[in-house]
Order: sequence, then C-alpha cells, then structure tokens
Amino acid sequence: MARRPVQRSAWGARAPFADPTGAKGFWAPFSRAPAHRHVRYRLPLPGWHGRDFSVAFLSDLHLGSHTADLARLAAILAEVEASRPDMVLLGGDHMNMMAFGGGRIPPETIAGALKVLSAPMATVLGNHDWEYGLEAVAGAFEAAGIAVLENRALTISIDGLGVRIVGLADDIHGDPQAALVGAEPGPEIVVSHDPGVIVDLPDGCILLAGHVHAGQIRIPGLPVLHMPASRIPRAMAHGHHRIGRRHLIVSAGLGCSGLPLRLFAPPEVVTVVFAAESPA
Ligand SMILES: [Fe+2]
Repeated sequence: MARRPVQRSAWGARAPFADPTGAKGFWAPFSRAPAHRHVRYRLPLPGWHGRDFSVAFLSDLHLGSHTADLARLAAILAEVEASRPDMVLLGGDHMNMMAFGGGRIPPETIAGALKVLSAPMATVLGNHDWEYGLEAVAGAFEAAGIAVLENRALTISIDGLGVRIVGLADDIHGDPQAALVGAEPGPEIVVSHDPGVIVDLPDGCILLAGHVHAGQIRIPGLPVLHMPASRIPRAMAHGHHRIGRRHLIVSAGLGCSGLPLRLFAPPEVVTVVFAAESPA
C-alpha cells in the first residue's frame, strides 16, 4: 500500500523547534491543562502464564500544547514511576504541531524528560510526529534509549517470561503491517497510534491506541461531535471495546491538538494490568 501524503504543517509549527521550554507567551492563560486522571483496566492476556504485570500507557503528549507542559509532564511521570509499572508504552503524537499558541518543544527534550522512567519503554509514532518529521522524532527517541516500533516487534521480559510488543505504523500516514500481529506464538500486545487499524487485525489481539483524544471537546450528554480522522466509529473514541474477540483500549491521551482546549474529555494516564489467561 502506498503511503498517504503527509499534511503540511502551518508556518507557525514548522520543524525544527528550538524552544526547549515550551513557552506559551500570550497563550499561557488560555492553555492550562485540566486535571488528568488515572484509568485502570484489567485483561487476561492470551498465552500468558506468569504473574500479573502492569503496562503504563501514555499517549498524545503533544508536549507544549498546554501551559508549563514540561513541569506538568514531570509531575505525571513521577506518578507513573511511583506506580512501578513493569513496562511503559507510548502511543505517539509526542509533538505539538498546533498552528498557533507556541509551545514548540523539540523531540530531544521530550525524549529526555521520559528517561526518568525506569521500566522498559517503547513507542509508536503518530500523525503529528509525521508532520514534524518521522526521522527526527524517531532519532531523538532512539538516542534516548526508547525503542521506536515502526512496524517492528520487541520482546520485553517479565521475570524471565517474554511478552511480544508489536508496534504498528500510523494508520493515516504510515503503512501498518497487520501481518506482524500473531505472526509468532506467545503473549502479545499491539500498540498503534490510530485505533482504526483494529479493523485489519486478527481475532484475539489486544490493541492499545490513542489519537482521538476522547473527542477532546465534548458536551455532556451528547455523543462525540468531532474527532480526528480514523476508521473507528465515534462511539469508540474512548475506553475499552470488544470487537468480536479483539480488545481495543483507546486512551484519551494527555495533550491537545487543533486548539489548546479540553472539555469533558479529561487527559489520562492508562494502566493495563495483564493477568494469566484463564484456563479453558
Ligand atoms: Fe493526538
């Protein structure tokens, strides 16, 4: 499949960024982040026979989209570290490519901030990372020791037992290789930025994704009014969904795109506790 064309960034968000602090200037009073929350799921992992283990899943940092975002990220990471996850998976869209509002934090700064986490870490990349420059973002994360899973798998050991992490490319700009999923026997967790890739994945898979920000700007009592392009329906813009025997967990993410505003779609850190497969 040919890669879809990458959208061009607005002039105000052209790479490379030079501000390591993410200063918002005039926009600072209008870009404050709402309080984030911690959301926890528990799932049996097919093929897993070890102890329960936890995966912290952080998505859509869009670092710099909120005021004082580096300090906010440091506080969030301290909470994640205190929860002692067995691994940390990142759902992509690290970059803030908003057309206005400042907060232009380079990928090296973002990857460097994440290094405070002590658990094994891997990331996929999202459409906003593509807009900044895939090689630049991937290079910064790899240089910081964070594995970039762009159609690549990595095995992470939990007390000597391996769990395969399959990272698929972004469904909008990339060319996700669904054939990687289930290609090897054993327990497996799939990560991709855009949950839309779920429609191509086989039965029994578990996919962690972000991208749609739970709608980002919601009106209580109404369904999601708007979300970024994705092949999932708006009703799946957040939470845990079962599609046949597939599990899809969609995080609301932590940052913003388009506007530095979230309403009734609070930012979140997701923790998934994986348990041994139940006996048949
Ligand atoms: Fe995003």
